[in-house]
Amino acid sequence: MTRPIVPPPPPAPARPLADHPLGPAGSLPDPADGLALVKPAVRAQAAYTLRAPTARRKLNQNECPLDLPPSLKRSILDAAAAASWQRYPEFVPAELLERLAAHYGWVPDGVLAGNGSNELIQATLSVVLGPGDVVVAPSPTFSLYRLLTGVLGGRYVPVPLGDDFGYDVGRLVAAAVRERARVVVLNSPNNPTGTALGAGAVERVLRETEALVLCDEAYQEFGGPSAIPLLRRSSRLVVLRTFSKAMGMAGLRFGVALAHPGLAAELAKGKLPYNVNLVTLAAAAAALREAPLLAARTREIVATRDRFVPALAALSGITVYPTAANFVLIRCRALPAREVFRRLYDEYGILVRDVSNAGALSECLRISIGTDDDMDAVLAALKEILSCPA
Ligand SMILES: Cc1ncc(COP(=O)(O)O)c(C=O)c1O
Repeated sequence: MTRPIVPPPPPAPARPLADHPLGPAGSLPDPADGLALVKPAVRAQAAYTLRAPTARRKLNQNECPLDLPPSLKRSILDAAAAASWQRYPEFVPAELLERLAAHYGWVPDGVLAGNGSNELIQATLSVVLGPGDVVVAPSPTFSLYRLLTGVLGGRYVPVPLGDDFGYDVGRLVAAAVRERARVVVLNSPNNPTGTALGAGAVERVLRETEALVLCDEAYQEFGGPSAIPLLRRSSRLVVLRTFSKAMGMAGLRFGVALAHPGLAAELAKGKLPYNVNLVTLAAAAAALREAPLLAARTREIVATRDRFVPALAALSGITVYPTAANFVLIRCRALPAREVFRRLYDEYGILVRDVSNAGALSECLRISIGTDDDMDAVLAALKEILSCPA
């Protein structure tokens, strides 16, 4: 049985100091002195948070529904056990970088390994952005770009996506030129809308702007073109990939940045030394060895998506947006999204992501693609919820 929740989760209230292990209220100093030293631009940012209760069907974080095969986990653990844990991991994991380069079709000295691709978004922005520098990005998109831009003292300029959340490249380019953007972020397929950039879009942004173009391809294995081939033509391009989604290793935290070797050497200054631990390094190497197996699993997820999305679109009371990713965005028309979200969880044990904050995403929910069984359960649940309002 799952416990009922009220979506979307409100921020957790501060724990009363009286209950705090450090003692009763008054035993801690007033935080004002410390807070006065935090940059106003940081205090103005909303924190990146997620409260995710446990669920029978967890479809809220775009993770791979399948765990790594036990034999693969065992080989990772054996490799990690054979390493010396009292030693730092390799400063530059050269062999792994070579394998990554071969995997993605790029040169080894243009590859950086990160503690998740989030770290590499941060590293890239931190070496490029100065105070007041502009980052142009589509809207809606992954919220971390805005948060990190603010933390780094940059100015974030969101550019609305077009009809059905399709990319409007002309509008992005115009904004980047007008604002003299230092960075243009392109997330393809875009989270949370699922929309992919069209062929030639990244090339156009590179050609028509002077910005560094950061292409976050966290979901690219599931669909849409990759910007990797353009690395041979531009030293202003950074392509990010992750092992958290299609590779099924979100818990181990591994991401990759691909860039011109000259730029990669500078991006490396923005990340911490020894950022990837030795267990994760072993896991990344093992995952690359098993790349064909992981790619076959990705194809299964895509096939599940391609069966699920048309069936979803046939339901009345929702709008379904086109997706190239391992998730799909819906807009609830017959019932409030909050109610659909709550009933999916309370009555069916299905946890999706409520993204229905005001603006372009009002009444929207994002549903990650799980197993066939998960998606059949979502369809059956939605059919009941939409045909019989509580
Ligand atoms: C667009 C996008 N980029 C990056 C990430 C983070 O990936 P990682 O787990 O590699 O840090 C996510 C995670 O949800 C994402 O949606």
